[in-house]
Amino acid sequence: MDVIQAINERRAYRSLEPVDITEDLIKDLARHARLSPSCFNNQPWRFVFVRDPEMLEKMHEALSQGNVWARAASMIIAVFSKKEDDCIIRDREYHQFDCGLAAGFLVLRATELGLVAHPIAGYSPKKTREILGIPEDYHVITLIIVGKHSEKISSVLSDDQVAAERSRPERKPFSEIVSIDRFGQKSIRGPIE
Ligand SMILES: Cc1cc2nc3c(=O)[nH]c(=O)nc-3n(C[C@H](O)[C@H](O)[C@H](O)COP(=O)(O)O)c2cc1C
Repeated sequence: MDVIQAINERRAYRSLEPVDITEDLIKDLARHARLSPSCFNNQPWRFVFVRDPEMLEKMHEALSQGNVWARAASMIIAVFSKKEDDCIIRDREYHQFDCGLAAGFLVLRATELGLVAHPIAGYSPKKTREILGIPEDYHVITLIIVGKHSEKISSVLSDDQVAAERSRPERKPFSEIVSIDRFGQKSIRGPIE
């Protein structure tokens, strides 16, 4: 087992080169996404794998301004679900959580295959539904931008985006995100690598 390498190497790169999107690749990514766990095995996730150049160009309209870089995508994967298709336990609606897990599996598998798979929230769900023919009662949870990482930094990136291209954006310290045994109890000292 070697999950560690994929987790460490995965990055939300924004400088992309084209990559050939075969049916085998789509099947491979879908196969690994669907092995993800879900509440009651409800499998609420739905995907549209967009690879046709004309459809990709239409999808450019759905991207937010800060995501112009994503126009270089060789594939855009729309991930969507309905809350009624998964567990609802009082205020806990699990469809988004389960789609996040499946998207995570897909992203790691894409990383293992040498690809960039970059989830984004900066898009119009309404335009995405219109362009892709997704019925209105589905929530479009993310678009995953797929390409190959280019060493040449894209000219459309902002300064912050260029910095993120060069080194991974910082993570919060363990002391802020991890408690042991009780909320707020910190018995881990120093960095854990
Ligand atoms: C739900 C979600 C939404 C995101 N939305 C965007 C986005 O709209 N545009 C963008 O450039 N990056 C987006 N990102 C990427 C994050 O900015 C990136 O993962 C974070 O800065 C950490 O960098 P790293 O993934 O390279 O470690 C998003 C990531 C997630 C998980």
